[in-house]
Amino acid sequence: MRGSLLVDNIGELVTNSPGGDGPLGIRRDAALLVEDGQVAWVGPARDAPAADRRIDAEGGAVLPGFVDSHAHLVFAGDRAAEFAARMAGEPYTGGGIRTTVGATRAASDDELRATVRRLRGEAMRQGTTTIEIKSGYGLTVADEARSLRIAAEFTEDTTFLGAHVVPAEYADRPDDYVGMVCGPMLAAAAPYARWIDVFCERGAFDVDHARAILACGQAVGLGVRVHANQLGPGPGVQLGVELGAASVDHCTHLTDADVDALASTGTTWVSGFEPTTVATLLPGAEFSTRSPYPDARRLLDAGATVALATDCNPGSSYTSSMPFCIALAVREMRMTPAEAVWAATAGGAAALRRTDVGRLTRGARADLMILDAPSHLHLAYRPGVPLIRQVLHNGVPQCRQ
Ligand code: NIG
Ligand code: FE
Repeated sequence: MRGSLLVDNIGELVTNSPGGDGPLGIRRDAALLVEDGQVAWVGPARDAPAADRRIDAEGGAVLPGFVDSHAHLVFAGDRAAEFAARMAGEPYTGGGIRTTVGATRAASDDELRATVRRLRGEAMRQGTTTIEIKSGYGLTVADEARSLRIAAEFTEDTTFLGAHVVPAEYADRPDDYVGMVCGPMLAAAAPYARWIDVFCERGAFDVDHARAILACGQAVGLGVRVHANQLGPGPGVQLGVELGAASVDHCTHLTDADVDALASTGTTWVSGFEPTTVATLLPGAEFSTRSPYPDARRLLDAGATVALATDCNPGSSYTSSMPFCIALAVREMRMTPAEAVWAATAGGAAALRRTDVGRLTRGARADLMILDAPSHLHLAYRPGVPLIRQVLHNGVPQCRQ
């Protein structure tokens, strides 16, 4: 859409940048001008420049679009029965991943694409304007490559997760599988991937295999992320820090040394040059596996950078809702509403090492949401309520709710 667009009558503008109040950089009586898909101006409403079009926020809060830095959207089938069994007392082990692998391999490209499109649409309607999408339910050279090819139709942030679990056909020879992941599978996947990820956990990949796979990815230019310390304590977080990962995800079971390692990577990632390793917390997974939540307060107090993401997948967290994750983080993980909103926007951007999203300042991508509520507090204060009235992505209004 061409021409300029002014958003005004804003209840509170969350900018996530200096110039406003607190860590969210909140401005009141502000307006925002969009041009060519970017934020062209932010300032007092009384000084707003003339524009071709106008959106009246009607006193609603305006926030940067959510940055969901962890999602597994390329899959087929669902595991509702497995969820029901868990709610009846069965533990979550990650073993169900192989069920989804079977369904995914049997699906056509169009079926997989339709699922990604449906979930991407769901997420957008809930304010998510940037999303990372992983492979990891194909686990053959062809199925991982096509998963990433399809993911790349929907996002720039695609992640190769060939090391999700060892598939059944390699069960008795995991070294061969790791060799295949580092060889032909990586070669087929890399053209479509920005990141590489490994599920470093008992029952998935041990630290030596994880290090080898991540190093192969780094050698061909992929950035590192790790699924770590989800089901129990382990070496994944420290491996991520050692390799300069952009993010270690889950972080449910952390020792003091893990927390210190994360905090030592810094808290002020803004410029793209400081190699912070973000702790990405995924409370939808604890909700859906009835597990203890990670302690975000401990990480924040130590000085680590925290992001929130959905982990949207058919097994451990079948939600695409960042507002739901914010509400859980505030209620169950000792985050303040402001910390949770920051983690779901600027925190996600840090976890993807992006400076163009997660904030509303001049030059940022015009990705924003308008709430049917006067402040960001309502995202946690009114859980489960569809508060997102309108979303702009690249400056283009998406369907009004
Ligand atoms: O992030 N932990 C590993 N992978 C997913 C779960 C995938 C599944 O259960 O299908 C996760 O929780
Ligand atoms: Fe995950």
